[in-house]
Formats: sequence, structure tokens, C-alpha cells
Amino acid sequence: MYFKKAIKPQHHQPNSKRFIVLLMATFLSMCIGSLVLFFSLSTALRHHGHHNNHDHFVGAPTQPIYNPSTNGFISEACKASRDPPTCEYSLSSSSGGPPYQTLLDTIQLAIWVSQKNLRIAQSMVSDILAASAGNLNRSNAAKTCLEVLNYSDYRSNLTAAALRGGGIKDSRAWMSAALVYQYDCWSALKYVNGTSKVNETMAFLNDLLGLSSNALGMMLNFDNFGEKTELWTAPKTERDGFWERVDGSGGGSGFGFKGGVPAMLKPDVTVCKGGGGCDYATVQEAVNAAPDNAPERRFVILIKAGVYEETVRVPLEKKNVVFLGDGIGKTVITGSGNVGQPGVSTYNSATVGVVGDGFMASGLTIQNTAGPDVHQAVAFRSDSDLSVVENCEFLGNQDTLYAHALRQYYKLCRIQGNVDFVFGNSASFFDSCLILVAPRQINPTKGEKNAVTAHGRIDPAQFTGFVFLGCVINGTEEYMKLYYSKPSVHKNYLGRPWKEYSRTVFIQSTLEALITPDGWLPWSGDFALKTLYYGEFDNVGSGANISGRVSWSSQIPAEYMNRYSVQNFIQGDQWIPTSG
Ligand SMILES: *[C@@H]1O[C@H](CO)[C@@H](O)[C@H](O)[C@H]1NC(C)=O
Ligand SMILES: *[C@@H]1O[C@H](CO)[C@@H](O)[C@H](O)[C@H]1NC(C)=O
Ligand SMILES: *[C@@H]1O[C@H](CO)[C@@H](O)[C@H](O)[C@H]1NC(C)=O
Ligand SMILES: *[C@@H]1O[C@H](CO)[C@@H](O)[C@H](O)[C@H]1NC(C)=O
Ligand SMILES: *[C@@H]1O[C@H](CO)[C@@H](O)[C@H](O)[C@H]1NC(C)=O
Ligand SMILES: *[C@@H]1O[C@H](CO)[C@@H](O)[C@H](O)[C@H]1NC(C)=O
Ligand SMILES: *[C@@H]1O[C@H](CO)[C@@H](O)[C@H](O)[C@H]1NC(C)=O
Repeated sequence: MYFKKAIKPQHHQPNSKRFIVLLMATFLSMCIGSLVLFFSLSTALRHHGHHNNHDHFVGAPTQPIYNPSTNGFISEACKASRDPPTCEYSLSSSSGGPPYQTLLDTIQLAIWVSQKNLRIAQSMVSDILAASAGNLNRSNAAKTCLEVLNYSDYRSNLTAAALRGGGIKDSRAWMSAALVYQYDCWSALKYVNGTSKVNETMAFLNDLLGLSSNALGMMLNFDNFGEKTELWTAPKTERDGFWERVDGSGGGSGFGFKGGVPAMLKPDVTVCKGGGGCDYATVQEAVNAAPDNAPERRFVILIKAGVYEETVRVPLEKKNVVFLGDGIGKTVITGSGNVGQPGVSTYNSATVGVVGDGFMASGLTIQNTAGPDVHQAVAFRSDSDLSVVENCEFLGNQDTLYAHALRQYYKLCRIQGNVDFVFGNSASFFDSCLILVAPRQINPTKGEKNAVTAHGRIDPAQFTGFVFLGCVINGTEEYMKLYYSKPSVHKNYLGRPWKEYSRTVFIQSTLEALITPDGWLPWSGDFALKTLYYGEFDNVGSGANISGRVSWSSQIPAEYMNRYSVQNFIQGDQWIPTSG
């Protein structure tokens, strides 16, 4: 009961039933469509006449209808797809898209096709929302969906721009996030799938994921092989023996990175309990005061010692917001949101949730006090690309730290919980952090199984994963007492695969006795065991003995270590401040 259900994304399996569902979805959307939809449909009508307008949308791989003399790049580029026939069909039948004269143009076309269908998904979800008055669960799910699909659109826009500017790593990071959000919408609807409209929308989103995956696979191949399309293939992972091109030589030379939240930042505003002598009495008011979309400027909020009982949201438009506290345990932001409450999802249970890029925090505690018997209850959720969190503490039980999407750097942090307490589908780097398992059950001596991580990568081309470098994995003092009283019933694992391509590595870390010899825990049956990548290298401690590890975990070959450096994994050398 403590465990979330495994969700197997059924990736764009082409079949004729699906195609009919898509046609129906298109027709339904047509009836109640938005302005955007009207535009795309009218374009379709102009080009194909009424009966063929489905050609404009997600396609099923029937007979190829393209002209081989003009689609050279399409068939080359679609070698990077997990489903080349659908890829070729969707690109070659997408009239009205940008012109494609080069391989890069073809990747742009794949993004365009994905985004065009994303707009349709948005209008389908709007329809669900409009039809859900009086149904709290469904209207909440639809609202979450609209929010995350907008993030998906935003990240897709950035992807296209980065690709034009030659920023292949950024474009991969952003397109990976676009997929995260499309999947989140699917996932939100899954829990309210009582109507046929919801069913159709889920099927549509599933196909949309396939289209987005095509674009992402092309970027992965472009990054690694450039225009040598003879080398392009469907995305492979470390499990297939595929190691990405890296900068610098191998052998761990990239592991001396030093950077973090700069010292001596000048506060723009101050927050203190009660407000006396400060600018604001709540953290949220201070966040609201930050300028919108000021990409080149930090907005530093000094949060003085005190316990702030509030839910804090840093929205997309508040960029480079910095939280400076008076120290761990002194400045405390606390909440108790959890999925047991009406209308609350894991996503919005977070005490602090950050979406704006460039977030930084230092010297504070963020906690969720919902307790060990209420399931998912997030303390900190982050979607902030290029975020730096140093010397912070995160306290909770199940799902403490939701490193949801994009590139995040945590240094010298203390993260406490029990079930899946570091999870999400970001590319996150944990440098010298203390990871502590806390007791969880009503009847704590009975025993339990805890997974420290549950990384949620859904696609082999996604940029994401968790890297732990120089961390300590231990239990709290209280937990270790319990543990030693009967080690055989208290099982702790480094991670388990929330999604099919889960990726997590532990490098030069101390794994204390509480980590079981198995090391890693299955999610459900053999789900993801052939596709995940769980790597270890050069760890110490009595939990680091690898002789009893599950067969589906790996030792990272020394020559590929550099793949997981701050530079190569999250390009941290380009954005984490290195001066005081
Ligand atoms: C809404 O969801 C909660 C659990 O999240 C469930 O207990 C409740 O029955 C649902 N309500 C409806 C009307 O489906
Ligand atoms: C979508 O995101 C944009 C930022 O790119 C924002 O201005 C807009 O308000 C958002 N729309 C919704 C419905 O959230
Ligand atoms: C993405 O770009 C399009 C075209 O410029 C724009 O209309 C749309 O609002 C953008 N989406 C977001 C979420 O910013
Ligand atoms: C939708 O819900 C039904 C039960 O109401 C379930 O059997 C089915 O698997 C769900 N569909 C999906 C795609 O999750
Ligand atoms: C939705 O789909 C599921 C299976 O995917 C099915 O069991 C259920 O009956 C469908 N519900 C409606 C209302 O169509
Ligand atoms: C792990 O925790 C125990 C109990 O609190 C403590 O004695 C031990 O020193 C810790 N290990 C590390 C490596 O910090
Ligand atoms: C690792 O575990 C194996 C079997 O459990 C044991 O034989 C071996 O001595 C251990 N190695 C170390 C270094 O503790």
C-alpha cells in the first residue's frame, strides 16, 4: 500500500483502432475547437480537402504516401525514431510546416509536428475541463494538465530556438522536459479516466509522446554523430553499451568541479516572521515582488530565522529567484500537503514548488509534516532549469524531494525520507549530500522496504538521470537503532525504477550498512529491469559490497566515468557560479 502503482507507458503502438480514436478525437475537437485548432484545421482543409484532414495530425503507418525524391532527409532522420514508419508518415504528411532543406530543418519539422499536435491536446483538455463542472477530481486533473501542457509548449519553443542557435545540449534538455509534461498530463488523466473523452485524450497524448520522442531521438543522434546519418539509430542507452560522446578525457578527470551558490549575495528584499522590520512577512509575498521574466538579474530574498507555515510557489515567469536563509533548522518553510486531501496530487502537495529557471537556495529547511502514513507528500518540487541548491535540508517521508524536470545541482544538502524520497524525471546532480532514511511506519519494528530513489525516465533519448557523487547514504540515529535491532526486516535500496528508462548512479559515495546486499529493488515484476541503468563506481561502506547485487545493476566502466561529471551530465561548468 505504500507503493505507487507502476505505470507502463504504452508507447505509440500503431494500430488501426488507435487511428480511429484519433479521427474521432480530431472530429470532437473540431466541434468545440479553439482558435489555434481552427487555424490548423483550416490549413489542413486548404491542403487536403475535407476527407484527408487527418493527414495533418498524428499518423498511423499505413502505406507510405510521401514522394521519395523529396523526403531524403525524412527517412534519414527517422532512423533516430523508436518507430521509424510512424515518424516518416507524420513528417512527410505534415504540409504547412517549416521548409526542410537540411537535416537540422528536419529536426525542426519534427518539433513542429509535435507542437502542432500539442495544441490539439490542449484544446481536448480544455473540453474536458469545460465538461467537468461539479467533478472536483476531474477538473483538477484537467487544470493540472493545462498547466503542464503549457510548460511543454514553452519548452518546445525554447528547444526550437536553441537548435537554431546551435545549442544542442540545451535543446535536448528542453525537449526532454517537453516530454515529461506531456506524460504528466496523461498520468493526471489516468486517475480520472471515467469518460470516453478522457480516454480519447489519453490515446491522443500517447501518440503525441511518440512524436515528441521522434524529435528527441534525432537530437540525441545529432549531438553524438552530427550529420553522419549512416550512424543514426533508434536511441540506445548504457544498458545497450552505448556511451555518449563526452568532452574532456575519461577516467574521472571532470570530478573536481567546485561551484555553488555565490557567497555575499546582496538581498533585494527581506522576509521575517511577523514582518516587523522586514519587507514581507511571508516568503510568497517576497516571491510575488520579483520582476517577471528578468533573465539576466537575480532577485535575492533573505528569509530570516523562523518557521514559515506556508505553501510557496515560484512560477515560470519568476526567474533567478534566490532564497537565502539563516541556516538549516533556523529558517524553516513548512507544510503538510498530501495526496490524502481532496483534489491534491503528488505534484501539488509540495510545500515549496519552483518552476522558474535559475532558482537558487541556501541555508534553509523545507519540510512536509504530513507524516509517514499518508503516502505521497512532497517537501520540495523543482522544475527549475539551471538551479543550484546548497546547504539546504529537505524533510519528509514518502516523496520528500521531487526533482521533477530539467537540470538541477544540489550540494551539501541533507535529504531525509523513506519511500522513493528522491524522485522525478530531471537530470539532477547530488554533490556531497547526506541522504538519510527515517522511520516510517505506525508499527516501526515490523520492518519495511525503502527505496532512496525512484527516477522516472520514460524515453531512452531523454537527457535525464540522477547522479550521486561523494554522498553519504545512511539512516537517522533513530532509524539506525531500529535497523540494528533486526536488520533482516529493515530493507533499504538505492533505488527502484518508477519508469521504464530509470537512470541513477552512485559514485565515490559512502553506502552505510542499511543498504541491502541486493542494492536495488524491482518496481513490479520485471518492469524496466532490462531498460533501466543503475550504476555504481568506487563506493565505500558496508552497504557498498557489490558481490550480492541484483544482476540488472551495473558497475560503471572506469573509462566512461566522465559521462557523469557535472560538466557532461548537466553542463554545470557553464552555469553554476564558481566564484565566491
Ligand atoms: C476523488 O479522488 C479521491 C482520491 O484521490 C477519491 O477518494 C474520491 O472518491 C474521488 N472522488 C470522486 C467523485 O471520484
Ligand atoms: C503559458 O505560459 C506563458 C509563458 O510562456 C504564460 O505567459 C501564460 O500565461 C501561460 N498560460 C497558461 C494558461 O498558463
Ligand atoms: C510558443 O510560441 C508560439 C509562437 O511564437 C506562441 O504563440 C506561444 O504562446 C508560445 N508558447 C508559450 C507557452 O510560451
Ligand atoms: C481506465 O480506467 C479503467 C477502470 O475504470 C481501467 O480498467 C483502465 O485500465 C484505465 N485505462 C487506462 C489507459 O489507464
Ligand atoms: C476507457 O478505456 C478503458 C480501457 O482503456 C475502458 O475499460 C473503459 O471502459 C473506457 N471508458 C469509457 C467511458 O470509454
Ligand atoms: C551513520 O549513522 C550512524 C548512526 O547515526 C553513525 O554512527 C555513523 O557514523 C553514520 N555514518 C556516516 C558515514 O556518517
Ligand atoms: C562482500 O560480500 C561477500 C559475500 O556476502 C563476502 O564474501 C565478502 O567478504 C564481502 N567483501 C567485503 C570487502 O566485505
